[in-house]
Amino acid sequence: TAKVAVFVSGTGTNMAALLYASRLPGSPYEIALVAANDPAAPALALARAEGVPTFALAHAGMAREDHDAAMERAARDAGAQYIVLAGYMRILTPGFVGRWEGRMLNIHPSLLPAYPGLDTHARAIAAGDSYGGTSVHLVTEELDAGEILGQIAIAIQPGDTPAALAARVRLAEHQLYPRVLADYVSRWNDPQHLLARVRTLALALPQTH
Ligand code: GAR
Repeated sequence: TAKVAVFVSGTGTNMAALLYASRLPGSPYEIALVAANDPAAPALALARAEGVPTFALAHAGMAREDHDAAMERAARDAGAQYIVLAGYMRILTPGFVGRWEGRMLNIHPSLLPAYPGLDTHARAIAAGDSYGGTSVHLVTEELDAGEILGQIAIAIQPGDTPAALAARVRLAEHQLYPRVLADYVSRWNDPQHLLARVRTLALALPQTH
């Protein structure tokens, strides 16, 4: 099975959905590490209780490069082949993103390309949209702009609030993310993708720590 490091900043309901789905028979991935930029993130306590290795490093007062390097080292030390961002509210440095290109996924609470960035639910409601949504995409240097791997649209109801919409979006996310991740790592493990995989590994080789 493919080893995955999940990066979180907060509650970690998507991390939990990914973890529990990985414990179903036949899961093509396993969670090798949960790493957070906030040692108090509730996601860490959940991971620990479930016997998943964790890493935490507060980003305050650290250069972005140094914090990223520590997170990346933790992922590598855990043997991660993929990094999965699940409510990780930090923008990663281009070097980091480049080294994990094709092997780093993010979930974003909108129907991308609509509403990259923050406050997605409030913006969709204010615009009078009929649908909000959630998207899983590959992480590239441009924020929330990588290839979209899967989406679910969520109807906006009359009188919806950002919090109410966000709660329903999360329900959809918990279905979407494990399915898309499982499909993606299965595709990647397919012999047809061996060449792409070798090239990605070769790219990663000069990186030492
Ligand atoms: C999720 O809704 C996710 O889409 C969003 O944060 C929430 C995390 O919830 N991510 C972003 O806004 C990324 N910019 P969780 O901690 O319960 O998984």
